[in-house]
Amino acid sequence: MEISEDLLNKLKSKKSVKILAIESSCDETSVAVVENGRNVLSNVIASQIDIHTRFGGVVPEIASRNHITAISNVTRQALDQANCTLDDIDAFAVTYGAGLLGALLVGISFAKGLAYMKNLPLIAVSHIKGHIAANYLTHEDLRPPFVCLLVSGGHTAILDVVDYTHIKVIGTTIDDAVGEAFDKVARVIGLGYPGGPKIDKIAKQGNANIEFRHHNTMANSNNFSFSGIKTAVINYVHKCEQNNEKIKQEDIAASFQKVVTDELANKAIKVTKNLQRNQLVIAGGVGANSELQNKLGVLCKENNIKLYFPSLKLCTDNAAMIGSYAYYQLLDNGEVTDLDLTASSVVPLE
Ligand code: KG4
Ligand code: ZN
Repeated sequence: MEISEDLLNKLKSKKSVKILAIESSCDETSVAVVENGRNVLSNVIASQIDIHTRFGGVVPEIASRNHITAISNVTRQALDQANCTLDDIDAFAVTYGAGLLGALLVGISFAKGLAYMKNLPLIAVSHIKGHIAANYLTHEDLRPPFVCLLVSGGHTAILDVVDYTHIKVIGTTIDDAVGEAFDKVARVIGLGYPGGPKIDKIAKQGNANIEFRHHNTMANSNNFSFSGIKTAVINYVHKCEQNNEKIKQEDIAASFQKVVTDELANKAIKVTKNLQRNQLVIAGGVGANSELQNKLGVLCKENNIKLYFPSLKLCTDNAAMIGSYAYYQLLDNGEVTDLDLTASSVVPLE
């Protein structure tokens, strides 16, 4: 649905367009106020990590209930920190997917209530596109076109970001997302949840000296496959257990992380060069991985590609990135949603 031309022109003529954005797709309740798509006035994140840790992963029903408990206070804090009231807000934005349906519905229902009460536009944002936009908040100079390596808990893809709201999929995982593989391997070697940061940390003390037996079926394509390496690590651990050998967590972590980050970094560079782009942008939680960051740093320098990562806080889930992408949906395309918006567990990448 498009907003009226009058309203769009009015918004375009404003010096400051403030969007209040809500993100509740997984285990973070987050509300932000973002000005003109780039300036974060506030970005409050209430994490549920402590609540889910004892279960070894996110429990969807518990996540939904905690979003309900948190969302009013988080919104109030976001407005206070931005020095705003609801009267200063021009539009509301909310993540509609991908994610846990019950969790998403909490944010969506709350956002609808606000939009209805204030009679303001509501913008439905894809969580994945929000992750890309996290880079606009960190790097003032960044403009499309660029290649994006999307590496989150639920998605892994290489995208050609032609313009703010025009994205083409170049490659994607055919099985597990890379974050999922990190989390699974972490669980198998006894590091627990959330796995990615724990593997990253412990790998620094290890040697990448284990060769896991696996065949990468996607070696010669722009797509990825991570289930082979994941299974190879699981088999290796089980074999050690059967032989009563003590596993070396840090060496397994370092060896697994090396395989995965080589694959991500090499393919991202190959595609960037093939498409003759000179900017590579990293998006999603696994973008926080130090080995991935180091490898891409070196390869981009060698190949004259400008590399962008979101700041660490904006790599993982937050509402500011949703507020940024919403601005371009609204101002570039006049795109808003009806109050019959519902949640989607999957969303298109393009
Ligand atoms: O993008 P994100 O916050 O959530 C989704 O939208 O899925 O990504 C979460 C994923 C988890 O799988 C987590 O283990 C991983 O990002 N992650 C990391 C690191 N920090 C977070 N993976 C590897 N190294 C890290 N430092
Ligand atoms: Zn995410």
